[in-house]
Amino acid sequence: MIPQRQTRENAADPAPARDRDQINVSKKNEPIQSVKGTRDLLPAESPLWQRVEDEARKIFEAYNFREIRTPVLEQTALFARSVGSDTDIVTKEMYTFEDRDSGSLTLRPEATASVVRAYIEHSLYNEPGIQKLYYFGPMFRRERPQKGRYRQFYQIGAEVLGSDHPAIDAEVLEMLVLLLEHLGLKEFRLLVNSVGCSRCRPEYLKVLRKALDEVKTRLCEDCQRRATTNPLRVLDCKVEADQSIIEGLPKIIDHLCPECRQHFDSVTMDLQQRGVTFEIVPRLVRGLDYYTRTTFEITSGLLGAQNALLGGGRYDGLSEMLGGPPAPGFGFAIGQDRLVLTVEASATLVPAQPLAVYIAWMGEGARHEATLLASGLRRQGIGTEISYQPVKLKKALGAASRLQARYAIIIGEEEIASGNYQVKDMGTGEQQSVSAGEIAAFLTEKLREPLPAPQGGVAGEK
Ligand code: HAM
Repeated sequence: MIPQRQTRENAADPAPARDRDQINVSKKNEPIQSVKGTRDLLPAESPLWQRVEDEARKIFEAYNFREIRTPVLEQTALFARSVGSDTDIVTKEMYTFEDRDSGSLTLRPEATASVVRAYIEHSLYNEPGIQKLYYFGPMFRRERPQKGRYRQFYQIGAEVLGSDHPAIDAEVLEMLVLLLEHLGLKEFRLLVNSVGCSRCRPEYLKVLRKALDEVKTRLCEDCQRRATTNPLRVLDCKVEADQSIIEGLPKIIDHLCPECRQHFDSVTMDLQQRGVTFEIVPRLVRGLDYYTRTTFEITSGLLGAQNALLGGGRYDGLSEMLGGPPAPGFGFAIGQDRLVLTVEASATLVPAQPLAVYIAWMGEGARHEATLLASGLRRQGIGTEISYQPVKLKKALGAASRLQARYAIIIGEEEIASGNYQVKDMGTGEQQSVSAGEIAAFLTEKLREPLPAPQGGVAGEK
């Protein structure tokens, strides 16, 4: 073994004695539960999560996006500067702690800021053309947990950096709608708006502030505060009693500068030409401060209170805010937990993923051949499970059926002597003898056949 040099990364860095005393080991033997707002995704749920990820990857790559993976830990200043120091995310929801030697760190509440940081840090702007990047991963927000809202949740997102062309906005929205359609979703609404730019928004904010001065005492406590600190956020208020008052406030879309107006008109016209259905919602402002011009959300009625399936928009000044060169950007993040819930609720097809082969061997003499066969099949990508101890045939077939194996291969002393294994189709019960040398090719061919439909439904239908 190569001796490892002691570097700061690998040097033992024990917690100071005081910290160690403070670590609560709780009562010995008491089961330790997962943290509130986090959850385990168990194997039964994985096929749907994987299906959603596979489909997203396929579609993103068809639109020439490439994957980027950034750390879950970032410097706190990254989010304070980009998401905004007065947003709910930054003031109330971030998991922030003082690291021993790196200052204030935060578990990322979103990934757009991280992607733009990486774009600047690695000078991706020097590469030719625009950057089209996508990511999957966990995000962390200390919100009140409920169905569809977690403290660790997962996003599937994409960002386009390096152009403010309205065709990018339309193309990305077309890609999103295509993804949802491929996942079998039908009932969703694409809501779009424009929040203007650094030239027209301050003018609109003046008008909005003035209008708010007249009504703010009738608004909820949060909105009274927002009316001074971040008046745009008033438009996003969900308190029922405030709604009729907010409806009467001036709309940002009526106060866009000519460039923003033209940009928005080009986006909406392009969407129409692509056949993408959308609604203009002038109150759609979103909860992050970096947005400029186009903002959007897709909602689903199948989600209940937390109905935002995904959201995003344009952020043309973010790169400069983070110390980079001008690099207009546009992107989105899908709440993967919510997407999976929606796909489940709309009962679309989920491919069943039964095991391909179960190898049952009988008698110590068969162990070696059975083990080699399992290795060989696995090398060829055929999903294989094997008993670890010799078993009786009946028990072995019981195990194969519990694991939903499509085929069971039976290897006993007789099979070893003849060089032919018994292959049992677990669906039909048919059994046939196949020579050891041909078994992989035989199974590959058989496994290409679609699964027979179970009684009363389509194979794999949930
Ligand atoms: P966001 O609207 O904060 O935008 O989050 C995007 C999506 O993440 C939401 O629509 C929702 O589906 C999901 N989500 C947010 N919070 C939670 C939670 N606590 N539990 C479950 N799901 C949640 C962003 O994060 C921006 N970075 C999107 C973006 C990318 N804009 C431009 N590029």
